[in-house]
Amino acid sequence: MPKLIVVTREGEEREIEGEAGLSVMEVIRDAGIDEILALCGGCCSCATCHVHVDPEFADKLPKMSEDENDLLDSSADRTATSRLSCQLPMTDALDGLKVTIAAED
Ligand code: FES
Repeated sequence: MPKLIVVTREGEEREIEGEAGLSVMEVIRDAGIDEILALCGGCCSCATCHVHVDPEFADKLPKMSEDENDLLDSSADRTATSRLSCQLPMTDALDGLKVTIAAED
């Protein structure tokens, strides 16, 4: 199973197993990390699953949709590494992926 490294808002680093097929948001939530609200359940309409992705993995991620881009624009914490974690499926190619949970808007 691909490994996911999550940095919480407190700066705590957690290494969790990510089941391929689940989204990064689901993997984080299932690990009991409650900083990701994921209010819309993963249908790309709330932006409460915002994370910053390690730039090393940028070219392994699926392309950002227009909806994701628009939603991220509503976040004050948006940077070049911002993604919505519900839009990132875990795959074996993402083994070792490191994401930092974005500040709450
Ligand atoms: S969970 Fe709502 S946009 Fe990702």
